[in-house]
Amino acid sequence: MFHIIIAIIFSVFISVQSVPTPTFQQCKKTDVTCLNGNINTIFQKSIKGDQDLGIKSVDPMHHKEIDGQLSVIEYQLYNSTVEGFSKCEVVNTKLDLEKRELNFRVLCPVLVMYGVYNISGTLIVMPIEGHGDYKIVCKGYDMQVETDIMIQQDNNGMKHISIKYFKADGELTEGMTTDLQNLFGGKQPQLAKDVLKFVNENWGPVAKVLQGPVFGANYGKIVKNINKVLKHVPLNQIIEE
Ligand SMILES: *[C@@H]1O[C@H](CO)[C@@H](O)[C@H](O)[C@H]1NC(C)=O
Ligand SMILES: *[C@@H]1O[C@H](CO)[C@@H](O)[C@H](O)[C@H]1NC(C)=O
Repeated sequence: MFHIIIAIIFSVFISVQSVPTPTFQQCKKTDVTCLNGNINTIFQKSIKGDQDLGIKSVDPMHHKEIDGQLSVIEYQLYNSTVEGFSKCEVVNTKLDLEKRELNFRVLCPVLVMYGVYNISGTLIVMPIEGHGDYKIVCKGYDMQVETDIMIQQDNNGMKHISIKYFKADGELTEGMTTDLQNLFGGKQPQLAKDVLKFVNENWGPVAKVLQGPVFGANYGKIVKNINKVLKHVPLNQIIEE
């Protein structure tokens, strides 16, 4: 009996100890490397999720619908999966507590997205229309995320930051391959081929035109998770106040 109790106490102790809590350093305000490390840790945790904190992983990420209403082109993406955010890295973090701003870049080696698309309009110079399966592989995405933050106190009087507004932009640096099934309803195979060739050859500008709504959807989910993580990390664990 005694041994069982010891074993239980011991195993409780072990399991509490072995919960992988991220290690933060209390950074000096001017120590940008230290601060970037903390924000990167928070970002990674936000992507991978944490069962103990009830935070679901967003790699893979799922979107029921993304609605892209742009001026000359409109598209919807249905039942989409995004894979690869857990391989991304945060760089160039800037946290300004006075201005209530947190800005950083996210470098992603490979992001893959697939599902069902619906598109109609003009893509730069090409007419495009279709509805079917799609798959996009993006290499070397350099994303800039700018946020406005709030500082609030929890019940224990500890200050926490949270993101109340974000905007995300970015450039592809290495390439993108796009597959769109059933362009023009399969009725204009030569035009479909030409459009796909154009999309794959002009990946940089094509991504720039189309990425906005996808960025909004992706970072909407990521920022939600970042805020959940930040609830468990007092500000003074991240930076000296
Ligand atoms: C949605 O996508 C998943 C994964 O690609 C697939 O297994 C599922 O059948 C799709 N659901 C619908 C309703 O198309
Ligand atoms: C695709 O878009 C067209 C025109 O924008 C719309 O009429 C159609 O209902 C859409 N189809 C689906 C399946 O969303």
